[in-house]
Amino acid sequence: MTEQLSTRHLLGIQDLTSEDIDLIFRTADGFKEVLARPIKKVPSLRDITIANLFFENSTRTRISFELAEKRLSADIINFSSSSSSTKKGETLIDTVNNILAMKVDMVVMRHPDPGAAVFLSRHVEASIVNAGDGTHEHPTQALLDAYSIREKLGKVKGVKVLIVGDILHSRVALSNIHCLKKLGAEVMLCGPTTLMPRFVESLDVRVEHDLDKALAWCDVANMLRIQLERQGGDGIASLPSLREYAMLFGLDLDRYERATKAAGRGGKRIVIMHPGPINRGVEITSEVADHAESIILDQVENGVAVRMAVLYLLAGRLGKTS
Ligand code: NCD
Repeated sequence: MTEQLSTRHLLGIQDLTSEDIDLIFRTADGFKEVLARPIKKVPSLRDITIANLFFENSTRTRISFELAEKRLSADIINFSSSSSSTKKGETLIDTVNNILAMKVDMVVMRHPDPGAAVFLSRHVEASIVNAGDGTHEHPTQALLDAYSIREKLGKVKGVKVLIVGDILHSRVALSNIHCLKKLGAEVMLCGPTTLMPRFVESLDVRVEHDLDKALAWCDVANMLRIQLERQGGDGIASLPSLREYAMLFGLDLDRYERATKAAGRGGKRIVIMHPGPINRGVEITSEVADHAESIILDQVENGVAVRMAVLYLLAGRLGKTS
């Protein structure tokens, strides 16, 4: 029998076993090879119809999923809406059931409410892929991040990964923490106290509020975007100013070079990551974003292969891959 995921949906990293993640990575390796060919398309999902439902703005995640689906020859329908009438539970089920009535096999959904994907999976027949649900989880982002670390450093286990910034509002942070820990990496969080979740202790990770000390420790620094749209009030309610944030928690070349030369590191490099979209000059300067040790564009490239792997493996559970 071919290998299968232990789950029918991808709602969050917490639902995956480390074997599932390993299977996704091995499958993505195969698709990366396909994507390097002159003809980048395979017929694997020829009989599958996928609905991309985006109830929150997104450019790169939506494009990445769409490209992954097209490379797999799936049929696609796209629905985008940010109007408040579709945010209520019942309306969400109604919207989705309307689409499913047209015989859709899988739903890729981004939604502003935490738990929206789990909720949907309990009420509809299709396989659900969570493409980001509020401040909760963004599992494919975490998978592509860990996959990119594995590609760059040859492993994830034992790697020291620093996640910097707006942990409180970041689904990327939460999914990354779960994924990295499942794969045996060491995780440290760094950011202002006002942007650390209260439940941070339950996550079993290190916390360091001094970025220079945190950088001296890590092999990889994942610089998160300040989630301005989730801060409420004037947009930066949890911070005195973006300028102060950039001074204390932004990564510029000076700080980067100081950190790689820090005592005890032996000139060890620090791999730079960012999930995008980047606020250049806030969480990271252009010199660092475009640095030789930055894998920001590899993350984007790997996103397509990893999403292909997830869709392919979930379709396998429907018994519909060719
Ligand atoms: C992330 C998201 O939307 O959660 N971006 C993305 O998926 N491209 C991170 C972010 O918005 O900061």
